Amino acid sequence: MPTPVDKNAELQARIDEMGPWFYDMEIGNGLRTTSKVAATHDDIHVTRREMVSRAVQSHFGDRLQGVNAMDVGCHEGYFSFLLRELGVPKIHGVDLRLESLNKAKALAEIAGHDSMTWTHCNCEALDQHVQDQYELCLCVGLIYHLENPIRCLRQIADRCGEMIVVETQVCNEIHGETEWGRQECRMPYQGGFALIDETCFDDNPETGASPLALCPSPAALETVLKALGFDRVETIAPPESGNEQMLRGKRVVVAGYRSQGHQSG
Ligand SMILES: C[S@@+](CC[C@H](N)C(=O)[O-])C[C@H]1O[C@@H](n2cnc3c(N)ncnc32)[C@H](O)[C@@H]1O
Repeated sequence: MPTPVDKNAELQARIDEMGPWFYDMEIGNGLRTTSKVAATHDDIHVTRREMVSRAVQSHFGDRLQGVNAMDVGCHEGYFSFLLRELGVPKIHGVDLRLESLNKAKALAEIAGHDSMTWTHCNCEALDQHVQDQYELCLCVGLIYHLENPIRCLRQIADRCGEMIVVETQVCNEIHGETEWGRQECRMPYQGGFALIDETCFDDNPETGASPLALCPSPAALETVLKALGFDRVETIAPPESGNEQMLRGKRVVVAGYRSQGHQSG
Protein backbone atom coordinates (compact mmCIF):
# COMPACT_ATOMS: atom_id res chain seq x y z
CA MET A 1 0.00 0.00 0.00
CA PRO A 2 1.44 3.48 -0.88
CA THR A 3 2.49 5.52 2.13
CA PRO A 4 1.28 9.17 2.39
CA VAL A 5 4.79 10.21 1.29
CA ASP A 6 4.58 8.04 -1.87
CA LYS A 7 1.09 9.34 -2.57
CA ASN A 8 2.27 12.97 -2.31
CA ALA A 9 5.24 12.30 -4.59
CA GLU A 10 2.87 10.77 -7.12
CA LEU A 11 0.51 13.77 -6.95
CA GLN A 12 3.42 16.21 -7.25
CA ALA A 13 4.66 14.32 -10.33
CA ARG A 14 1.14 14.62 -11.82
CA ILE A 15 1.17 18.38 -11.19
CA ASP A 16 4.63 18.77 -12.73
CA GLU A 17 3.57 16.81 -15.83
CA MET A 18 0.68 19.21 -16.39
CA GLY A 19 3.12 22.14 -16.65
CA PRO A 20 4.47 24.51 -17.69
CA TRP A 21 2.58 26.58 -15.11
CA PHE A 22 2.12 30.33 -15.22
CA TYR A 23 1.82 30.69 -11.44
CA ASP A 24 3.50 29.51 -8.28
CA MET A 25 0.62 28.02 -6.30
CA GLU A 26 0.62 26.12 -3.01
CA ILE A 27 -2.37 23.83 -2.84
CA GLY A 28 -1.80 22.15 0.52
CA ASN A 29 0.07 19.06 1.82
CA GLY A 30 3.29 20.55 0.42
CA LEU A 31 1.99 20.25 -3.14
CA ARG A 32 2.73 23.13 -5.48
CA THR A 33 3.03 24.39 -9.02
CA THR A 34 6.24 26.07 -10.14
CA SER A 35 5.90 29.12 -12.36
CA LYS A 36 7.78 29.31 -15.64
CA VAL A 37 7.77 33.13 -15.31
CA ALA A 38 8.44 33.56 -11.58
CA ALA A 39 11.58 35.60 -12.22
CA THR A 40 9.67 38.36 -14.05
CA HIS A 41 6.15 38.10 -12.58
CA ASP A 42 6.52 37.16 -8.93
CA ASP A 43 6.41 40.65 -7.47
CA ILE A 44 3.28 41.72 -9.36
CA HIS A 45 1.41 38.58 -8.32
CA VAL A 46 2.37 39.02 -4.68
CA THR A 47 1.12 42.63 -4.74
CA ARG A 48 -2.12 41.72 -6.54
CA ARG A 49 -2.79 38.91 -4.06
CA GLU A 50 -2.26 41.23 -1.14
CA MET A 51 -4.56 43.94 -2.56
CA VAL A 52 -7.36 41.58 -3.59
CA SER A 53 -7.24 39.70 -0.24
CA ARG A 54 -7.31 42.92 1.77
CA ALA A 55 -10.25 44.36 -0.20
CA VAL A 56 -12.28 41.16 0.03
CA GLN A 57 -11.52 40.50 3.71
CA SER A 58 -12.19 44.04 4.82
CA HIS A 59 -15.58 44.07 3.06
CA PHE A 60 -16.92 40.63 3.98
CA GLY A 61 -15.07 39.94 7.25
CA ASP A 62 -16.62 36.87 8.96
CA ARG A 63 -19.27 36.65 6.25
CA LEU A 64 -16.68 35.25 3.79
CA GLN A 65 -17.59 31.73 4.95
CA GLY A 66 -21.05 32.19 3.41
CA VAL A 67 -20.01 33.81 0.15
CA ASN A 68 -20.55 32.40 -3.32
CA ALA A 69 -17.86 33.77 -5.67
CA MET A 70 -17.14 33.87 -9.39
CA ASP A 71 -13.63 34.40 -10.83
CA VAL A 72 -13.85 35.49 -14.48
CA GLY A 73 -10.70 34.97 -16.55
CA CYS A 74 -9.54 32.53 -13.88
CA HIS A 75 -6.66 31.04 -15.94
CA GLU A 76 -5.07 28.21 -13.87
CA GLY A 77 -7.14 29.19 -10.84
CA TYR A 78 -4.64 31.42 -9.05
CA PHE A 79 -7.21 33.82 -7.59
CA SER A 80 -9.84 31.08 -7.21
CA PHE A 81 -7.42 29.22 -4.92
CA LEU A 82 -6.68 32.46 -3.10
CA LEU A 83 -10.40 32.87 -2.35
CA ARG A 84 -10.49 29.26 -1.15
CA GLU A 85 -7.59 30.02 1.22
CA LEU A 86 -9.49 33.06 2.52
CA GLY A 87 -12.37 30.75 3.44
CA VAL A 88 -14.78 31.27 0.53
CA PRO A 89 -16.63 27.94 0.30
CA LYS A 90 -17.99 28.03 -3.26
CA ILE A 91 -16.03 29.36 -6.21
CA HIS A 92 -16.92 29.30 -9.87
CA GLY A 93 -14.04 29.90 -12.31
CA VAL A 94 -14.68 30.98 -15.90
CA ASP A 95 -12.18 31.15 -18.73
CA LEU A 96 -11.92 31.31 -22.51
CA ARG A 97 -9.16 28.68 -22.63
CA LEU A 98 -10.00 25.05 -21.96
CA GLU A 99 -6.37 24.08 -21.45
CA SER A 100 -5.96 26.53 -18.57
CA LEU A 101 -9.32 25.54 -17.06
CA ASN A 102 -8.39 21.86 -17.19
CA LYS A 103 -5.27 22.64 -15.19
CA ALA A 104 -7.32 24.56 -12.61
CA LYS A 105 -9.82 21.72 -12.44
CA ALA A 106 -7.13 19.07 -11.96
CA LEU A 107 -5.48 21.10 -9.19
CA ALA A 108 -8.83 21.51 -7.42
CA GLU A 109 -9.39 17.75 -7.62
CA ILE A 110 -5.93 17.03 -6.22
CA ALA A 111 -6.51 19.54 -3.43
CA GLY A 112 -9.92 17.95 -2.70
CA HIS A 113 -11.89 21.16 -3.34
CA ASP A 114 -15.07 19.68 -4.75
CA SER A 115 -17.04 22.90 -4.34
CA MET A 116 -14.95 24.63 -7.03
CA THR A 117 -16.69 24.57 -10.41
CA TRP A 118 -15.55 25.71 -13.83
CA THR A 119 -17.10 27.04 -17.02
CA HIS A 120 -15.44 27.29 -20.40
CA CYS A 121 -16.80 30.34 -22.24
CA ASN A 122 -16.16 33.83 -23.51
CA CYS A 123 -17.09 36.29 -20.76
CA GLU A 124 -18.89 38.43 -23.33
CA ALA A 125 -21.46 35.63 -23.59
CA LEU A 126 -21.61 34.83 -19.88
CA ASP A 127 -25.41 35.06 -19.93
CA GLN A 128 -25.53 31.95 -22.14
CA HIS A 129 -23.43 29.89 -19.75
CA VAL A 130 -23.74 31.14 -16.16
CA GLN A 131 -27.11 31.82 -14.59
CA ASP A 132 -26.28 31.98 -10.88
CA GLN A 133 -25.79 35.06 -8.73
CA TYR A 134 -22.61 35.67 -6.73
CA GLU A 135 -22.01 37.96 -3.79
CA LEU A 136 -18.41 38.40 -4.94
CA CYS A 137 -17.08 38.59 -8.50
CA LEU A 138 -13.42 38.85 -9.44
CA CYS A 139 -12.41 40.26 -12.79
CA VAL A 140 -8.67 40.47 -12.42
CA GLY A 141 -6.09 40.77 -15.18
CA LEU A 142 -8.86 40.55 -17.78
CA ILE A 143 -10.56 43.65 -19.17
CA TYR A 144 -7.52 45.27 -20.80
CA HIS A 145 -7.28 42.18 -23.04
CA LEU A 146 -10.84 42.59 -24.34
CA GLU A 147 -12.32 44.39 -27.31
CA ASN A 148 -15.59 44.80 -25.41
CA PRO A 149 -14.62 45.50 -21.80
CA ILE A 150 -17.91 47.25 -20.98
CA ARG A 151 -19.94 44.33 -22.28
CA CYS A 152 -17.84 41.93 -20.17
CA LEU A 153 -18.28 44.07 -17.05
CA ARG A 154 -22.03 44.34 -17.71
CA GLN A 155 -22.29 40.56 -17.97
CA ILE A 156 -20.43 40.12 -14.71
CA ALA A 157 -22.38 42.93 -13.00
CA ASP A 158 -25.65 41.19 -13.95
CA ARG A 159 -24.54 38.20 -11.87
CA CYS A 160 -22.96 40.17 -9.04
CA GLY A 161 -25.01 40.84 -5.92
CA GLU A 162 -22.62 42.77 -3.72
CA MET A 163 -18.96 43.33 -4.60
CA ILE A 164 -16.90 43.28 -7.79
CA VAL A 165 -13.11 43.48 -7.76
CA VAL A 166 -11.55 44.65 -11.02
CA GLU A 167 -7.80 44.62 -11.44
CA THR A 168 -6.46 46.11 -14.64
CA GLN A 169 -3.79 47.95 -16.48
CA VAL A 170 -4.99 51.54 -17.03
CA CYS A 171 -4.03 54.07 -19.70
CA ASN A 172 -3.21 57.69 -18.88
CA GLU A 173 -6.29 59.73 -18.01
CA ILE A 174 -8.05 61.30 -20.99
CA HIS A 175 -9.68 64.71 -20.43
CA GLY A 176 -11.72 66.86 -22.78
CA GLU A 177 -14.98 67.13 -24.62
CA THR A 178 -16.27 66.62 -28.11
CA GLU A 179 -18.81 68.32 -30.34
CA TRP A 180 -22.08 66.43 -30.31
CA GLY A 181 -24.51 66.94 -33.20
CA ARG A 182 -23.76 70.65 -33.60
CA GLN A 183 -20.89 72.98 -32.82
CA GLU A 184 -22.40 74.54 -29.68
CA CYS A 185 -23.28 71.24 -28.04
CA ARG A 186 -20.35 69.62 -26.20
CA MET A 187 -20.16 66.33 -24.37
CA PRO A 188 -17.43 65.87 -21.73
CA TYR A 189 -15.30 62.72 -21.78
CA GLN A 190 -15.87 60.40 -18.84
CA GLY A 191 -12.30 59.16 -19.08
CA GLY A 192 -11.34 57.11 -22.13
CA PHE A 193 -10.13 53.82 -23.56
CA ALA A 194 -6.80 53.33 -25.34
CA LEU A 195 -6.89 50.98 -28.32
CA ILE A 196 -4.13 48.37 -28.03
CA ASP A 197 -3.06 45.84 -30.64
CA GLU A 198 -1.92 42.63 -28.91
CA THR A 199 -1.09 40.79 -32.15
CA CYS A 200 2.53 40.51 -30.99
CA PHE A 201 1.31 38.36 -28.04
CA ASP A 202 -0.78 36.06 -30.25
CA ASP A 203 0.59 32.79 -28.86
CA ASN A 204 0.19 33.91 -25.31
CA PRO A 205 -2.58 32.16 -23.31
CA GLU A 206 -3.00 35.25 -21.13
CA THR A 207 -4.51 37.43 -23.87
CA GLY A 208 -8.10 37.93 -25.08
CA ALA A 209 -10.17 36.29 -27.80
CA SER A 210 -9.00 38.79 -30.42
CA PRO A 211 -5.88 40.98 -30.69
CA LEU A 212 -7.63 44.35 -30.44
CA ALA A 213 -8.17 45.45 -26.87
CA LEU A 214 -9.47 48.54 -25.10
CA CYS A 215 -7.59 49.58 -21.99
CA PRO A 216 -9.59 51.93 -19.72
CA SER A 217 -8.41 55.06 -17.99
CA PRO A 218 -9.11 55.24 -14.23
CA ALA A 219 -12.07 57.62 -14.69
CA ALA A 220 -13.56 55.44 -17.45
CA LEU A 221 -13.44 52.39 -15.18
CA GLU A 222 -15.13 54.24 -12.34
CA THR A 223 -17.81 55.65 -14.69
CA VAL A 224 -18.59 52.19 -16.08
CA LEU A 225 -18.81 50.53 -12.65
CA LYS A 226 -21.13 53.26 -11.37
CA ALA A 227 -23.30 52.99 -14.48
CA LEU A 228 -23.56 49.24 -13.86
CA GLY A 229 -25.04 49.83 -10.41
CA PHE A 230 -22.02 49.78 -8.11
CA ASP A 231 -22.87 52.96 -6.26
CA ARG A 232 -19.63 53.00 -4.27
CA VAL A 233 -16.37 52.56 -6.17
CA GLU A 234 -13.08 52.51 -4.33
CA THR A 235 -9.47 52.30 -5.54
CA ILE A 236 -7.53 49.93 -3.31
CA ALA A 237 -4.19 51.34 -2.12
CA PRO A 238 -1.12 49.24 -2.94
CA PRO A 239 1.18 48.16 -0.11
CA GLU A 240 4.13 50.52 0.40
CA SER A 241 6.64 47.98 -0.88
CA GLY A 242 4.37 46.72 -3.65
CA ASN A 243 4.88 46.34 -7.38
CA GLU A 244 6.12 49.55 -8.98
CA GLN A 245 3.32 49.75 -11.58
CA MET A 246 0.71 49.55 -8.83
CA LEU A 247 2.57 52.22 -6.86
CA ARG A 248 2.53 54.56 -9.89
CA GLY A 249 -1.18 53.89 -10.51
CA LYS A 250 -0.61 52.44 -13.97
CA ARG A 251 -2.22 49.24 -12.85
CA VAL A 252 -5.08 49.38 -10.35
CA VAL A 253 -7.34 47.31 -8.15
CA VAL A 254 -10.79 48.85 -7.97
CA ALA A 255 -13.70 47.55 -5.91
CA GLY A 256 -17.34 48.29 -6.68
CA TYR A 257 -20.04 47.78 -4.05
CA ARG A 258 -23.81 47.64 -4.33
CA SER A 259 -25.63 49.15 -1.39
CA GLN A 260 -28.85 47.41 -2.46
CA GLY A 261 -29.23 43.78 -3.49
CA HIS A 262 -29.36 43.08 -7.20
CA GLN A 263 -31.71 40.99 -9.33
CA SER A 264 -30.27 39.59 -12.56
CA GLY A 265 -31.59 40.94 -15.83
C1 LIG B 1 -3.78 37.89 -18.01
S1 LIG B 1 -4.68 36.43 -17.66
C2 LIG B 1 -5.21 36.79 -15.99
C3 LIG B 1 -5.51 35.56 -15.22
C4 LIG B 1 -5.87 35.76 -13.74
N1 LIG B 1 -7.21 36.26 -13.58
C5 LIG B 1 -4.91 36.71 -13.10
O1 LIG B 1 -5.28 37.85 -12.88
O2 LIG B 1 -3.76 36.33 -12.83
C6 LIG B 1 -6.21 36.65 -18.53
C7 LIG B 1 -7.10 35.43 -18.49
O3 LIG B 1 -8.37 35.78 -19.03
C8 LIG B 1 -8.76 34.82 -19.99
N2 LIG B 1 -9.59 35.50 -21.00
C9 LIG B 1 -9.18 36.36 -21.95
N3 LIG B 1 -10.23 36.77 -22.67
C10 LIG B 1 -11.32 36.16 -22.17
C11 LIG B 1 -12.69 36.18 -22.49
N4 LIG B 1 -13.13 36.92 -23.52
N5 LIG B 1 -13.53 35.43 -21.76
C12 LIG B 1 -13.08 34.69 -20.72
N6 LIG B 1 -11.78 34.62 -20.37
C13 LIG B 1 -10.91 35.35 -21.08
C14 LIG B 1 -7.47 34.28 -20.57
O4 LIG B 1 -7.66 33.02 -21.16
C15 LIG B 1 -6.58 34.27 -19.34
O5 LIG B 1 -6.73 33.07 -18.62
